[in-house]
Amino acid sequence: MDHKRKITMCLFLAAICSSVFGEEWRATVSKNLEALVGSCVVLPCTFTHPASFLSNSRLRGIWHRKDKWEEIFYHEESTKILDNFKGRTKLLGNLGENNCTLEIIEVKDHDNGPFCFRIEYVRKENNKPTTEKFSFVEECAEIKMLYDTPKPKLGPLKTAIEGKAYTVTCSVRHTCPSRLPQFTWSRGSKDEITEVHKHIHSGIWETESTLAFIPEEKDDDTELTCTATFNGGRKSFTTFPLNVKRTENYNHIIIPTVAVAATAVLFGLLCVLMVKKYK
Ligand SMILES: *[C@@H]1O[C@H](CO)[C@@H](O)[C@H](O)[C@H]1NC(C)=O
Repeated sequence: MDHKRKITMCLFLAAICSSVFGEEWRATVSKNLEALVGSCVVLPCTFTHPASFLSNSRLRGIWHRKDKWEEIFYHEESTKILDNFKGRTKLLGNLGENNCTLEIIEVKDHDNGPFCFRIEYVRKENNKPTTEKFSFVEECAEIKMLYDTPKPKLGPLKTAIEGKAYTVTCSVRHTCPSRLPQFTWSRGSKDEITEVHKHIHSGIWETESTLAFIPEEKDDDTELTCTATFNGGRKSFTTFPLNVKRTENYNHIIIPTVAVAATAVLFGLLCVLMVKKYK
């Protein structure tokens, strides 16, 4: 075999091998994220490694600025982290489960990144540790800053009817499932309130609080307020006026009508009887 054919053969085999063994070092990061300044944000991230990877090697996940390996946002040795990120970043994901999810708290308006994930692993060969480094510089996340606290949404706004169960739901979208927004209602005890958490799409979650109660006459013309407090303390609220419809009581019409009708029927019968008798 000449040199050229050998190379072609090698490439061919490599293609087969990589498709058989599938995975290579690759990370999947949500690229366009949003974060509320002063609150927190979670950057979802997962990675794959080659089948030949020895699972007993030690993994080290690093988040750094794009094209600047020395500007580190997260490292297990905190001394290596940029000063203005120290204490604010945490690897939420478990690297052993191929999860490199990062949490940033106390978001500042210059935290837009791009945040890139890189993995290193230390392999011991003949008892001599050697570090092999892999980087996923093409997998970076950028964060768009939100300055206005999102207002909670209330719905469905049905008419409340006196004595009938009534529910109303308050929801907000957020970027931090590790530190959820908290809801407070202007009324309602703990057992009247239920919460649900949802994943909307990459980097966006939603928390929903539902208040269920039985409106009374005295609740008419009052206001219902739902307040959302985001991690970090930013608050926003939505209010709506509660109008309670009285359950209509038609007795004052029905009773006299029935009485008049009954009297008329009786009177009619009496007349018929009288006419029959005198014929
Ligand atoms: C990665 O870890 C985070 C934090 O623990 C978790 O919320 C998320 O569901 C994990 N992702 C996957 C794909 O398992």
